[in-house]
Order: sequence, then structure tokens, then C-alpha cells
Amino acid sequence: MSTAAAGPPSTSFLARNEFLIRRLHSLSGLIPVGAYMVVHLLTNASVLESPATFQRNVYTIHSLPLLPVIEWGFIFIPILFHAILGVLIIRGSLPNSSTYKYTSNVRYTLQRATGMIAFVFIVVHVFHMHGWFHFPAWQHGVAEPLGGAQFKPYNAVSTAAAALSSIGYQIFYVVGILSCVFHLANGIWTFGITWGIWVTPAAQRWATTACLIFGLALSAVGLGALGGFAFMSKDRQAEAVKMEDAMYQSKIASQELDPAKASHKRAETKHAEDEAAATETAQAETPADEEAPAQE
Ligand code: HEM
Repeated sequence: MSTAAAGPPSTSFLARNEFLIRRLHSLSGLIPVGAYMVVHLLTNASVLESPATFQRNVYTIHSLPLLPVIEWGFIFIPILFHAILGVLIIRGSLPNSSTYKYTSNVRYTLQRATGMIAFVFIVVHVFHMHGWFHFPAWQHGVAEPLGGAQFKPYNAVSTAAAALSSIGYQIFYVVGILSCVFHLANGIWTFGITWGIWVTPAAQRWATTACLIFGLALSAVGLGALGGFAFMSKDRQAEAVKMEDAMYQSKIASQELDPAKASHKRAETKHAEDEAAATETAQAETPADEEAPAQE
């Protein structure tokens, strides 16, 4: 026999705010996460135009003020928010009262599966290229020894190409890119349902075609970008290093960059060369009487 006291049913925070939470989840998938992904893949694909174009684009991104604040505020936190709510929805912690009927069970299942794969991909990918955090003790003490933080913005082309040169990473990136693209393209379709944008069967068929074309185009951009780095010949990589060095030196000469603050964004070997050169210059500038104390 039940001993539960009669009274209003206790509902969780998630259940009480289901309407708002579902809409925030839907919106965050499109803006900023989806929008970021489109811009990011187009930026990466600019390597196909020329390595110098990609390097220039990376300089533009890295000249933004308060970059870590932008990264966390507009990219990492929204991705975490979207992913955590997605997991709660999949685990059934959010009631299903407002769910719509999917035209395809396969798409419904794939949307959830690709969401999980995309999240794992993004976590590993951001560690692999960026290292998650930028402070030197983490970068040199943890991320780099574990194979992360491979991308160095002022040697953008050569370090991205080196990071994507192994077959294991290439397969991982193909699966990750296709999962992210499917999740976004199908997510735009479900966004239109959640927000009541395509309601009639005819409008939904039209939206399916539009999302399919978008997904195919974005897959081509993403895989093209991957191929641009992964299949870059050794000669072209060597040319890219020369271009990167010339661009860096011209920014130092024009005082756009301060070598003391900029060098850590170069490849490890270049950074070590900069430090050795700085030590030599400092020694050369030290007056002789400071180096050797005067004899009595
Ligand atoms: C062609 C495949 C891709 C390549 C070559 C690539 C390359 C890169 C590189 C070089 C960085 C480091 C940027 C920096 O530190 O300045 C990065 C960061 C990142 N990537 Fe990708 N990426 C690819 C696909 C994707 C996909 C499909 C997503 C899914 C959303 C994604 C999400 C991110 C995120 C969230 C960051 C961290 C943002 C940041 O560094 O500010 N990437 N990627």
C-alpha cells in the first residue's frame, strides 16, 4: 500500500521550464554553435585558395581583442550548454509533451547519435589543435606532452598540416566533420519544427530539400578543408613555412606584433630560435663592465 502523501505532483526545474529550455537548446544549436561551425569550416577551407590566405585569416582571428573571452563566451560555453541539455533530453530528464512527429525514425536516431559523436569529436579536436587552455604551464606541461595544442597560429598552415598528417586523425576528422554537418543540417530542420517555421507537409518537404543541399555543400567545404591540410605535399609545406616566416617578420618589422608577446604563437622550433636570438641580443647589449667585475 502506498504511503505517499496526497498533494501537487513534485516537478523538477527542467520539467517546469521545459518550454523555455527546449527553445534555448534549439536556438543555441543554431546560433552561436552552428553559425560558428560554418564560419570555421569556411575559414579552414581558405587553405584551398592559398596557404597565405588561410594564414592571413588566422592573423585576423588572433588580432581580436580578448580572444579567450570570445572563445569561452561565444564558443565553448554555448557548446557545453547545448551538449549537456542534449544529453538530458536523450536520457529523458525532460518531458516529451511538446515533441513533434519526425517524418523519419532514421533521422531521429541519427540526430541523437551524431550529437554524441560530434561532442566527443569537438572535445578531442579542440584539445588536439588548441589545447583547451592557453596558459604556458598547461600548454607545455600537460597539453603538448599528451599530443594536444598542436596548432600554432603564426605557423598556421604547417602546424595544421602536420597535426592532420596521420591516417588515424584523418579518419577521425572525416567521421567528426560528417557527424557535425549532419547534426547541424538536420538540426536546422528540427529547429524549424520547434519554432513553428515549417508547419505544413509541403513546407516540410521543401525544408528537407533545402537542408539536404546545405548539408551536402557544408560537407564538401569541411572535407575539402581537411584534404587541403592532410594531403599537402612536403614541398608545399616547406614553402608554407617560408611564407609564414616572411609574414611574421613583416609584422614584427611594422611593429604590428611585439616579439616578446608573439613568439609563443609560433611553432616550437621557431619559438626556441626566437628565444636564443633574444638571449644573444641581451648578452651583446650588456656593457662589458657589468659582465666582468673590474679587477682591483
Ligand atoms: C576541416 C576540419 C577542421 C579543421 C582543419 C579545424 C581546425 C581547427 C584549428 C586549427 C583550431 C584552433 C584554432 C586556434 O587556436 O586559433 C580549431 C579549433 C576549434 N574547432 Fe575546428 N577544425 C575542423 C573542424 C571542426 C568542426 C567540424 C567543428 C565543429 C563545430 C570544429 C570546432 C572547433 C572549435 C569549437 C574550436 C575551438 C575554437 C577556438 O580555437 O577558438 N572544428 N579547429
